[in-house]
Parts: sequence; C-alpha cells; structure tokens
Amino acid sequence: MRTHVKDPLPDHGYTHWWMLFNNRQLLVHACLLKAITEAPEDAWPLDIREQVLGAFQQYLRNQNMFCFWDTGYDKLVPFMSNANYNPKNLAIENSVFKQLGRGNWSSNIANTLDGIEWMNKPWEAYILPDESQAKSEHFFLDDPIIPGNEPYCGSSTDLSMLANELFDLVITDPPFGDNLYYADLADFFYVWLRLPLRQWYAGLPEAAYFEPERTPHSMEAVDNSVEHPDDREDYEKKSFITLEELEEIEKKLGGRHD
Ligand SMILES: C[S@@+](CC[C@H](N)C(=O)[O-])C[C@H]1O[C@@H](n2cnc3c(N)ncnc32)[C@H](O)[C@@H]1O
Repeated sequence: MRTHVKDPLPDHGYTHWWMLFNNRQLLVHACLLKAITEAPEDAWPLDIREQVLGAFQQYLRNQNMFCFWDTGYDKLVPFMSNANYNPKNLAIENSVFKQLGRGNWSSNIANTLDGIEWMNKPWEAYILPDESQAKSEHFFLDDPIIPGNEPYCGSSTDLSMLANELFDLVITDPPFGDNLYYADLADFFYVWLRLPLRQWYAGLPEAAYFEPERTPHSMEAVDNSVEHPDDREDYEKKSFITLEELEEIEKKLGGRHD
C-alpha cells in the first residue's frame, strides 16, 4: 500500500510497529495495558474493562512519535489527524501524569466517561439562529441506545447470520473508495488491543476475531491502487470496445478466434 510504495515509511527507519513509539512510551503503554488486562474479573466486569481499553486506544493515538505540535493551533495534534502514516517534522511527546490538557491519560478517561454519558443521553449540536455568534447548544434526542442489541463483526458480503429476517430500515456507511485505508490504519491499534481481548474472550467464539495478527484486509471494500494495481490495458478499462480495438485484440491473439 501507500506506506510501502508511494511514501515508503521504511525509508524513514520505521520497519516495525514498536518503532512508532519511543522507549518511555513503550514502557508506559505496556504498564497500562498490563494493569487493564489483569484487572480482576470479579471487581471489574468485562464491559468496564472494555471501556478502559477504549480510553487506552485513544491514549495510543495521543502518545506516539507521530504526534506533533501544531504551531498555529498551539496544541498537540494526535496521530491520524491526517489518515496516513507520514512521519512528522515537529514530533512531540505528551505528559503521562499531567491532570489537565490534551490527549493525556486523564483526558482520555474523561472523554470515555463523556461517551458513556452520551450513550445514555444522546444529543446533537444545534446551531443557534443568531449567526453573529457561532455557538451551538445541545439538543437532546431522547433516543438512548436500547440494551440488547447484537453487534456482529465481519464483512457485509456475508450476512448469513440475519437469515431470512425482514427489516424496515437498513442504514449503511460504506468506505470512500480510495480515500481511507481503514484496515491499515486500524492495525496500529489492533496490535495492542488484541492482546487483552484474546485473553478476555478465550474459550468464546469471539476469540476467533482476535487470533490474526492483523485486521482482516482481504474483504475490505477499498480501492487500493498500490496493493492491487489496475494493470489492464487502456482498451480493457472502457465499457465498450470499438471495431478498431477489436481488430487490435485479434491481431494480438494472432488471428480470428470465433
Ligand atoms: C465510512 S466508515 C464507517 C464509519 C462508522 N459508521 C462510523 O461512523 O464510525 C466505513 C467502514 O466500512 C468498513 N468496511 C470496509 N469494507 C467492509 C466490508 N466488506 N464489510 C463491512 N465493513 C467494511 C471500514 O473498515 C470502515 O470502518
């Protein structure tokens, strides 16, 4: 893909996932992940541990060597603000212990708690009619997530688990062709998250999701011209073949083949 062919990351010295972090960051991440993974089951039910793992995922985004200082914004900008693996000129390191500020552990925990609150009491931003004040208010939807939903993990090319059920409404949010390489980007997080998830789901069918070392790439609906180059001849890309082109094909095939 682009990281290996168009803008090769190995040319900048990055050949392994761990190289995207400095030693201090690796140590802190490993300690945090160990504490989360080994949190006793009787004190911390699975859903709570998973929420903390979600905070850890965001922390990874904010604590790696691809975070940079945006001079205009005067703030740390987390990794993947642009959806690629391009190295940054102004790499900076976040503080582990600071209580306030952008992207540190406490603020990622606070964001996770906000997310849980939103889940129970969702809102949309409502822009106030007075255009001179670019302010918005929260408009509460009275539409919390209903417990008992069943999430599935897999490719939408296989919906066999839905059997012949009828649905009133189907909402999809498909990928944007060749714009975002979700699976490649997700691998940055997955290599960390699969470690506790494999352990927590051991013996359950879900454990199979976390066996592979990378996220599933083969069924991804993505137009990756580097990984899968379109090596067809120009005439093959057109919807219709002209008579001249047909003659050219015949010539290439060494005569008529009826
Ligand atoms: C535009 S994003 C959807 C984001 C999501 N709705 C949200 O708001 O966070 C498209 C998603 O489709 C996923 N995707 C790509 N190929 C897929 C496939 N064959 N089956 C299911 N999902 C796929 C991508 O991994 C990506 O997460």
